[in-house]
Amino acid sequence: MDKLIFLDNGATSFPKPDEVYSFMDRFYRNFGVNPGRSGYDLCMETGELVENTRAMLTEFLNGKDPNRLCFSYNSTDALNLIINGMLKEGDHVITTNLEHNSVLRPIYHLQEFCGVEADYVPFDSQGFVDPDDFPKRFRKNTRLVIVNHTSNVIGTIQPIREIGAQCKERGIPFAIDASQSAGKIPIDIDRQNVDVIAFTGHKSLLGPTGIGGLYVREGVEIRHTRAGGTGVRSAVRTHLEEYPYRLEYGTLNTLGVAGLHAGLKWIQKKGQESIHKHEMKLATMLRDGLKDIEGVTLYCLDDLENHIGILLFNVDGFEALNTGTILDVDYNIACRTGLHCAPLVHEQLGTSEIHGAVRFGIGPFNTEEHINTAVQAVKGIAESRK
Ligand SMILES: Cc1ncc(COP(=O)(O)O)c(C=O)c1O
Repeated sequence: MDKLIFLDNGATSFPKPDEVYSFMDRFYRNFGVNPGRSGYDLCMETGELVENTRAMLTEFLNGKDPNRLCFSYNSTDALNLIINGMLKEGDHVITTNLEHNSVLRPIYHLQEFCGVEADYVPFDSQGFVDPDDFPKRFRKNTRLVIVNHTSNVIGTIQPIREIGAQCKERGIPFAIDASQSAGKIPIDIDRQNVDVIAFTGHKSLLGPTGIGGLYVREGVEIRHTRAGGTGVRSAVRTHLEEYPYRLEYGTLNTLGVAGLHAGLKWIQKKGQESIHKHEMKLATMLRDGLKDIEGVTLYCLDDLENHIGILLFNVDGFEALNTGTILDVDYNIACRTGLHCAPLVHEQLGTSEIHGAVRFGIGPFNTEEHINTAVQAVKGIAESRK
């Protein structure tokens, strides 16, 4: 067993489909120029790939206007643009205990330095927020509701459609962090009553690091919190108002766009639903295997309906970090341990005091053999304690 078993797909998907590597290589060798800045052929062709990818992603999210799909560097970048561009002093925001630090920290900064108020909705014992928990927190000055579509810690898919409906009824903008969900499960900005979507390219969309984006529904405006080059209308003194320039700053990561393009095409060829089905079959095997091991605690895994292939557990008598080290050193299994950049999840689960938990994240290239090995490895660790 000399080959790495990669079960850290919640952090980033690895490996990527071969088509992603080969397309990026071909693209950058042949079209690696700055798009939108000049009129020569190469520049136009690079621009075409960018615009094609904008259109593909817009359609994928069921958006209407590709110009409102802006590229960013990752979802942290997109979420900062959203949170800082939609909230100002005296505003109130509602979010949840399921959030990643890329939502929590921008909000904490605004609370600490800009007089913004925030409410954090807890999740239930199985890891779901209740849509009815939102209306009672709405205030006159609530200007944004932002929710993690799919938890990166416990893998639960949140009822965004119902939360979105509550927001829509009161005219409050609703944003989702789709870092884990985009590429794994359907996102439909219209049907799910969402106003703004933040996504990252390197996780479920199977692209490289350094590319992500946001889609902003028509009628929702995000203030500029940065300014810089757009490649067009250079004489205008302030940053351009129109999309997509409004939320794009400086040279785009065109190599990242190319990789994202190839990742999305691969997903569409295989079928998002069949990838998810494969991952959930493995997730069920893994959950069932771990459940039967004495001394293993599973978190929010009673029912795998409304779940992605992210599983959280601990082994009695071991700190999560130690379990992870043994999995790595003795079994060549890569996973993620600790607080997973989502400290409120662990606070609510009661795992903060024991320094977090172990997370397995399943990806499209995992196999039943990987899962069997992982179950045997955890069993070995649990038995070594006796
Ligand atoms: C739910 C969630 N939000 C945000 C992020 C941040 O993504 P990125 O590091 O690509 O900005 C992650 C990454 O782990 C995540 O899982």
